[in-house]
Amino acid sequence: MIAAYQAQCQCRVDAALSELLQPPGAELQRLYQAMHYSVVNGGKRVRPLLVYAACEALGGEAQDADGAACAVELIHAYSLVHDDLPAMDDDDLRRGQPTTHKAFDEASAILAGDGLQSLAFEVLADAERNPHAAELRLAMITALSRAAGPAGMVGGQAIDLGSVGQQLDQSALETMHRYKTGALIEASVRLGALASGRADDVALKALHAYAQAIGLAFQVQDDVLDVESDTATLGKTQGKDQANHKPTYPALLGLEQAKAYALELRDQALHALRAFDNGAEPLRELARYIVERRH
Ligand code: IPE
Ligand code: IPE
Ligand code: MG
Ligand code: MG
Ligand code: MG
Repeated sequence: MIAAYQAQCQCRVDAALSELLQPPGAELQRLYQAMHYSVVNGGKRVRPLLVYAACEALGGEAQDADGAACAVELIHAYSLVHDDLPAMDDDDLRRGQPTTHKAFDEASAILAGDGLQSLAFEVLADAERNPHAAELRLAMITALSRAAGPAGMVGGQAIDLGSVGQQLDQSALETMHRYKTGALIEASVRLGALASGRADDVALKALHAYAQAIGLAFQVQDDVLDVESDTATLGKTQGKDQANHKPTYPALLGLEQAKAYALELRDQALHALRAFDNGAEPLRELARYIVERRH
């Protein structure tokens, strides 16, 4: 079921993203090419899936969520382009292809990331691409900018880079993961819920608890896969965390305990959805997928 749902959402969001990444003029061809290369390249689209699934869980329609789905993926793609730069993780392979700075050059990769980030907020602000009342669009922009910014993903990346070679304890590691990966996943669920136009405080609270658990589980599983998967399956170089002396869950707890922790978080996420009906099935499937995925 998740594969079909994933394919359907991927198709929707990829079509919308491709449209956004058309150059307005020939002089911007290379920049737009670098942005397109960084986005339309076989990502799993987990964050757009979460947007659609959260919207659906509250009875909304997919077309209500297209703008938000594009926005979270644009932020995610930008974060990956910058994450791979030599000054950060220095990776050559992403989604099975050369990283953007390898396929283009470093300056193009920095600018492509900057461009993708701005475009994300432009989409949310645009009443045509994100057809909701101004107040709702503002709530979405607020949620995404917080999640992407210094008290969210960017903050987490700063902690990550500042922690190289250090032994973090579990609470410090959890804080880092919640900022660097959890925040954008939480925002994806929140934006999806807002896009349904039917989010009340009770639903938002339950969805937040779900998103907190899967957000952390997602990075725990990413760390696990860096240890036990292989480069061809991952589409990125296996073993880079250890090579870069990154603090990770497997390094702290051991591989088996890290895997057990991911399963515990999945169960917490499922528990948070206990009051939801069948409309939340895609969200439940995604919680399972996040800890069972192989790449
Ligand atoms: C990788 O994210 C980076 C993390 C935040 C752990 P994904 O595993 O979602 O990467 P893509 O988008 O499928 O390539
Ligand atoms: C990246 O974490 C999180 C981001 C905010 C991009 P990682 O550095 O572990 O992601 P991968 O393993 O390179 O995809
Ligand atoms: Mg990194
Ligand atoms: Mg990395
Ligand atoms: Mg990783």
